[in-house]
Amino acid sequence: MNKIKVSIVGASGYVGGEALRLLLSHPNVDVVQATSESNVGKFIHQVHPNLRKKTMLKFTSLEDLEEVDLIFLGLPHKVSSSKIDYIMSKAKKIIDKGSDFRLCSSEDYKRWYDFEHPRPELLEKFVYGIPELHREEIKNADYVAAAGCNATATILGLYPFYKKGIVHPELTVVEVKAGSSQGGNKSNPGSHHPERKDAVRSYSPTGHRHMAEVMQETGAPYFAFSATSIGLVRGILMTAHLFLREKMQDKDIWKLLRSQYGEEPFIRFVKEKQGIYRYPEPKILAGTNFCDIGFEVDPGSNRVVVLTAIDNLMKGAAGQAVQCMNIMFGLEETAGLEFTGLHPI
Ligand SMILES: NC(=O)c1ccc[n+]([C@@H]2O[C@H](COP(=O)([O-])OP(=O)(O)OC[C@H]3O[C@@H](n4cnc5c(N)ncnc54)[C@H](OP(=O)(O)O)[C@@H]3O)[C@@H](O)[C@H]2O)c1
Repeated sequence: MNKIKVSIVGASGYVGGEALRLLLSHPNVDVVQATSESNVGKFIHQVHPNLRKKTMLKFTSLEDLEEVDLIFLGLPHKVSSSKIDYIMSKAKKIIDKGSDFRLCSSEDYKRWYDFEHPRPELLEKFVYGIPELHREEIKNADYVAAAGCNATATILGLYPFYKKGIVHPELTVVEVKAGSSQGGNKSNPGSHHPERKDAVRSYSPTGHRHMAEVMQETGAPYFAFSATSIGLVRGILMTAHLFLREKMQDKDIWKLLRSQYGEEPFIRFVKEKQGIYRYPEPKILAGTNFCDIGFEVDPGSNRVVVLTAIDNLMKGAAGQAVQCMNIMFGLEETAGLEFTGLHPI
């Protein structure tokens, strides 16, 4: 089989860099171009030093894109949608890592992003890129909007419970703790090292935009969601408090999770009785495409605590995008994503 010709737009960013890392080692892919407007003509390793000796490719400008089979977009919010016609003219298939095509309704963009979507008619052409929920649609899709990182961690934890209708849907409380690479590679006062290092900073106690994706994908009418920045560079830990309509025991929840995710290559269940890694922990997922899921039943109430951990740049971004690409092109779903992580780290 000929290799798939892929270009990465927004390749100097953290998500673009992670996509490059994965795709340059992918057995079925030829990376053709990598764009960055502020680094045109520079070698890729001058921006992503981990890729030294992996490629001699240089950054090009978006306006010099050649035709390829697939384009990955790692652009900021509002930029993808402003350039989408040009991008579509350069590739039959697109995977967008940004937020511009994740929501099905332009009304939701107004509500959650205060954004008048310039191309609302395209929203229905993009499939929401969480393979564990939409594998069959992704197989036949030309356009995929890969899910947000906080949204991925939350949806994968909540989905089995909401699908079965066994929770009080509006009582759910979610807290996400997220590492600093979530904010991208542009510095700002909040990312300045003395301000950011070891921070435990609540940055979105209410009204986080990713709630829109979670509601869209789980059917939750509303729920509570808070996000906190923590000292990690990579990683998200999602803690959800779900209030069940009826009390469930461990064995019932094991059955529910196994029936939903038992065959999934990138979902692992983590619930040990002993040791220090009894529940999901993002630190040991750095660089991997896994989503680890754990839970604990509150013996005193109908509450179950569900925990998920991911690497925001992998299962929350570039890794999940490559997983989607593998499905779109009929490849082994795990191709290029076999890294198992490091311990200790
Ligand atoms: N970071 C995460 O954990 C994460 C997770 C999931 C999804 N996402 C989403 O993925 C996207 C990329 O995130 P990131 O963290 O990689 O951001 P980033 O580090 O800020 O990178 C942004 C990239 O977009 C390019 N760019 C910016 N404005 C542009 C313009 N007007 N025209 C052409 N190129 C432009 C930048 O190129 P220059 O070098 O020229 O500035 C850079 O390559 C965002 O939509 C983000 O929300 C991020």
